[in-house]
Amino acid sequence: MNPAGRGLLVMASSSPHVRLIGIVILTSKAYTHMKVFITRRLLGLDEYIAQYGLGTAEIDIWEGSLPPSYEELVRRSKGCDGVLTVLTEKIDAAYMDAAATLKVISQCAVGVNNIDLKAATERGIPVGNTPGVLTEATADIAFALLISAARHIVAGTEYIKADKWKTWDPLLLLGQQVWGATLGIIGYGRIGKAMAKRGKGFNMRVLAYSRTLTAEEAANDGVEAASMDEVLREADFVSLHTPLTKDTHHLISTRELQLMKPNAILINTARGEVVDPAALYAVLKQEPTKIAALDVTEPEPMPADHPLLTLPNCLIVPHLGSATNQTRREMTRLAVANLAAGLRGEPLLHRAN
Ligand code: DGY
Repeated sequence: MNPAGRGLLVMASSSPHVRLIGIVILTSKAYTHMKVFITRRLLGLDEYIAQYGLGTAEIDIWEGSLPPSYEELVRRSKGCDGVLTVLTEKIDAAYMDAAATLKVISQCAVGVNNIDLKAATERGIPVGNTPGVLTEATADIAFALLISAARHIVAGTEYIKADKWKTWDPLLLLGQQVWGATLGIIGYGRIGKAMAKRGKGFNMRVLAYSRTLTAEEAANDGVEAASMDEVLREADFVSLHTPLTKDTHHLISTRELQLMKPNAILINTARGEVVDPAALYAVLKQEPTKIAALDVTEPEPMPADHPLLTLPNCLIVPHLGSATNQTRREMTRLAVANLAAGLRGEPLLHRAN
């Protein structure tokens, strides 16, 4: 199917110089009379709306820099055929009952923990998401956090800004060696695998845990399959890449944090709720040589007076995993493509339920 949906007529020339002599896009009627609510201004949005032929639909875009309230979300979604959401929107059964005409929910994210998938399935609503296109950007930020935490990059900048840099100091801000260390991956899906590749590029021994990973599959990737406890006990760096489900909620709590090596660094680019924040605070406070480097937090956004932000051994950035221009554009493209397919009643490119 062409991006613009039905009605693309291509006329080819036999000329060697001009193979394609005309493309006539018949006005797509597919989306006329359809209503769509898009809950945030996304990078490349207008371009992809046009490219996928959605210009004929009635499109309402939330232009606020903060998300719409739940009430506003419901109000604007009533009578809509499709909704394009981001991860801040709570899409629950009550929402779906209020927006009862929805044919598709298209989430511009790989994670769909804000959406009640079971409720959507029961109501026959396909939920789209955007896996794949953000894998490398997210693994990049996980590895960036790993190196930043290991080598005190942020503390170094703060040291200079505080006017403390008076000489080269042989004992200043000594960190952990990254090259040749052991990297533990918890959650060996697309992003976990991409993180493993980065680790191998740094000559690391890579231990991976997922419920389904076999020793043979791991060996094919040049990593070692391990239990979660083995990963926690043996890794110098533990990087989390699980989706947030009821099974992974607070997967990392006091026992798991205490199992980690005294100088271990925990990296979380998955979802904040995978780590118990109270347990993390207590263990980091008690064991100042352990470090956490987080792209995602519980709560999110994290308020500036949160206790974790008082700890020198906790590095936090505001959920930037997929935040590159290229990736965010691709996420928009895929989310719009899923939306368009769902409106036409066709299979989504990526369906989460
Ligand atoms: C996702 O896609 O789930 C990320 O957390 C945001 O890009």
